[in-house]
Amino acid sequence: MITVIGSANMDLVVGAENFPNQGETVLGNVFDTVPGGKGANQAIAAARLGSETHMVACVGNDLFGTSIVNNLQQNTVGVTGVATVDGASGIANILLSEGDNRIIVVPGANSLLMPAHIDEIEDLIKRSDLVMLQLEIPIPTVVYTLAKCQAIGVPVMLNPAPARGFELDMMPSITYLTPNETECEQIFGMDMVSALEKYPNRLIITLGNDGARFFDGEKHVIVEGFKTHAVDTTGAGDTFNGALAHGIVAGMELERAVRFANAAASLSVEKFGAQGGMPSFEEVAARLEESR
Ligand code: RIB
Ligand code: NA
Repeated sequence: MITVIGSANMDLVVGAENFPNQGETVLGNVFDTVPGGKGANQAIAAARLGSETHMVACVGNDLFGTSIVNNLQQNTVGVTGVATVDGASGIANILLSEGDNRIIVVPGANSLLMPAHIDEIEDLIKRSDLVMLQLEIPIPTVVYTLAKCQAIGVPVMLNPAPARGFELDMMPSITYLTPNETECEQIFGMDMVSALEKYPNRLIITLGNDGARFFDGEKHVIVEGFKTHAVDTTGAGDTFNGALAHGIVAGMELERAVRFANAAASLSVEKFGAQGGMPSFEEVAARLEESR
């Protein structure tokens, strides 16, 4: 069983031909509100692949909060650990243009996910094979959760995104750390190869289109990405993390789990929205088969 302790947002997505410059107004061509948030995205990615998954989060007592919770339930994610608090739900303002995105996150209720809440859901942690964390909730709550998981003896996958608040002394209580190249550089302040060699089989660096890599203690393992036609890359990293977690919990060897996660991420970018395109297990299996 996987427990994700993290953010749940409503994504307000605007698409336009070009990004506006400072002080400029441009006309857009798409607007949609779709559920997102790195925590919820990772939970749904794992659940769609067939993992029993539970979410621990805070949403606001607004309309977004209700639909965020409904969406988790529709995706078979357990919501007993989701609290509704006074105020606004977290939102992300996502601008899609020029084949890329620019995102502003306003945490809202996510900033009220406190250590006391982690104590209340301790039973979920105890039942978990893996706990997943990101950095869209208060950092003290991340630190508190890491200590608790370590005391209980539950492995943790931490995706250090967005790049803020990560401290090197968190490393001993993390089983898998999954930064992208930029985040890796910021965290370790050294080149990627040296960082990888310091943390064999624990540091998995995502490389966008190019896939992901880790060091297995003897050699560097570079797991190539899948060529695909990307419509919207929002949430690709989250799909990777959810799928990697699913693979690991299902008992896959690390290299196989990373390959599985690459395939899942490549499918997710073919559809609009962070959670749109997140595949089922069968869809990932088909992509892996195609590429053989
Ligand atoms: O990783 C993508 C997610 O980041 C979006 O769904 C948005 O909510 C932001 O949290
Ligand atoms: Na998508």
